[in-house]
Formats: sequence, C-alpha cells, structure tokens
Amino acid sequence: MTATTRNWTVPEGTLDTPTSQQAVSEAALLLRQGCTVAFPTETVYGLGADATQTDAVRRIFEAKGRPSDNPLIVHVAEPAQLEPFVAAVSEPERRLMSAFWPGPLTVVLPVRPGSLSPLVTAGLSTVGVRVPDHPLALALLRCAGVPVAAPSANRSGKPSPTSAHHVADDLAGRIDGLLDGGTTGVGVESTVVRVDGGALHVLRPGGVTRQQLQAVLPELPIRDATAADAEVPRAPGMKYAHYAPQGRLTVVQPASSAADRSAVRDYIRAELRAARGRSERSGVLTFDEYKHDFDADVVLTYGPLGAPGQAAQRLYDALRAFDAAGAAVLFAEAVPESGIGEAS
Ligand code: TXA
Ligand code: MG
Repeated sequence: MTATTRNWTVPEGTLDTPTSQQAVSEAALLLRQGCTVAFPTETVYGLGADATQTDAVRRIFEAKGRPSDNPLIVHVAEPAQLEPFVAAVSEPERRLMSAFWPGPLTVVLPVRPGSLSPLVTAGLSTVGVRVPDHPLALALLRCAGVPVAAPSANRSGKPSPTSAHHVADDLAGRIDGLLDGGTTGVGVESTVVRVDGGALHVLRPGGVTRQQLQAVLPELPIRDATAADAEVPRAPGMKYAHYAPQGRLTVVQPASSAADRSAVRDYIRAELRAARGRSERSGVLTFDEYKHDFDADVVLTYGPLGAPGQAAQRLYDALRAFDAAGAAVLFAEAVPESGIGEAS
C-alpha cells in the first residue's frame, strides 16, 4: 500500500494555466504507470486506475476495501476511445451517448474479450462506460489516453465523496494521487442502464432521470431493475450499501398535506426524545422551513423546500457530518419532488 498521496489543486477555470497543466500531466502519468489517482467528476469523486492493467485495478479494490466481485465503471474522454474495448454499440445506445455524454449516464455494453482487466468487469461479458461532464476529469482522461476504471473514491461502506476533503479523510496514504478540483456538482452517481431484449433496463437510478431517458428513447419500454421485480437483474453493486452512515438512518416520507406535516414532525420529535432517553446522539436532515421543529444534537438542512437539485449532495454531506458528530440515530426527510430525488 502506498504511504504518501500526491496532492494537486486545480481551481475551477484555471485549466489553461501552466501550473494546472503540469498537475494534469503528472496525474495522467501516474495513471499510465499503473498508480491510483482520485479525481472529481460531475457526480462524485472517482478513484481511477488504468482499466487495462490488472495490478493497477487491484490497487483500487485494496484502497477502498471493496469486494472484487463488483464491476467498475470505465471512464473515457470521448466515444472514440471506446473502440479498443467495446465490441458493439447499437443504434439506441448511440442515441443515449449523444444525448447524455458528457454526463451522468453509464451505459453497459459488450466488452471485447481480453481487452480490459477481468477485475474491471468482475468476470461479466459487459462493461459499464461513461464520459464524465467535468473539465478536469476530461483533461485527465484525454491526457492519460487510457480507459480509466473508477468507482466512487470512498472506503467501502462510507458515503460517496463530493469534495477532495472527503476523499482525503477516507483514502489519504492509501492512494497515489488526489486531484482537488473543488466540490462536485450533483452529488448523485451516474444512472446505470443497459439496452437488452428490446427494453431499457435502469440498473441503478442516478443523475439522469427515467423521464429524460424516455424522452430520448420513446419507443423502448423502461424496466426499472431497482423495483421489487425478481425477473430483472440488478446492478451487481446494489447488493452493497451505497450510503452507510455509522448511525441508524430513517428516511421519512414527505407530507402531502398540513395534517401529514404535523404527523411527520411529531413522529420525528418522539423518536428524538426516545433517543435522548437512551443517551444516544441524534441527527436530523430537514428543510430550512422546518429546522426549528427539531431538538436534535445535529440539525442540518437541504436548504429551502423546492431546491431538489442540491438535495442529494446535501444528503451525502449530512451523512458525513452526522458520522463526525457521533450521531447514532438519524432522520432524513425525503425530498418531495420526483426526478432526481429518486436517486437519493
Ligand atoms: O457517478 C458515478 O457513476 C461514479 C463516478 C466516479 O463516475 N462512479 C460510481 O462507481 O458510482 P461505483 O463503482 O460506485 O458504481 C458502479 C455501479 C455499480 O452499481 C455496478 O454494479 C454498476 O455500476 N456496474 C458497473 N459495471 C457494470 C456491468 N458491466 N453490468 C452491470 N452493472 C455494472
Ligand atoms: Mg459508489
């Protein structure tokens, strides 16, 4: 395991400066040499390694403490980079790529046998690929010139990181490099899809919503592999917890009326009193409008009701903050809107 992690800071809008270009080319060189480098994407920070080198990919699993039967997403700078390792791209898949790339959509495609490390595909005959929508990620991928396997850059079982600070908390000293490009945008991971058998299977909900997918492929039925439907395979990663705070988290459904709202408030208040009775620390994630309703040890907010675009990122940040405060009993109010809220 590595002892020192190289750190580079590339502030937004500085990519064309010599210092930032130097940082990108040093990080890219580390990747080509088979080392691990964490970098920001538009969703979360990823922990990258050259997807063609098994020793490099193994270091991702070692650093994360992640079971190696979980396949990794491969990141490229543009679709042309898929050619050496993707066996075929169908017309609907091509339409998805041109509609959502760069962006938070991972498309599962047939892999050319032997072209990638078997650790990336976890022995499957497919590979999940995406082009991230982040200038620093794209610069790194372009400069490295190799396909980069990258799961979220957290220790297994911890929340996905949305800042270099989160990555360093989990992985400093366990990875070779960390490119700090500030906080990530959306905070929700990419939507993972597969076109198969005349349907679009959503293997993991994420930044691209079902409605957006349906608008691009109106002729294909969408099968939601995350619903309780035993017929449809789930993304293998879904058998592991994606967000696992130390405390016991209860997600409370949103109220649809004022009467419901008082029921939600009274329920959370009663649970907080019970937690205090057991001398357990508590945390609540709610909205600005409701924060004075709760007497928890840590009260955090998503911001005002009706700002769902930031909600997922606030949830990740809140889970980290609750952990840091040693909160054992956690309540998160669900975000009422459909759409991006479905991934949190
Ligand atoms: O936004 C994201 O997707 C972030 C950033 C870093 O790109 N990455 C990420 O990777 O969330 P990870 O490893 O935490 O999640 C990968 C997901 C898992 O649910 C995994 O099972 C699924 O993608 N996946 C990857 N390859 C697959 C394949 N060949 N077939 C089915 N699912 C696959
Ligand atoms: Mg993850």
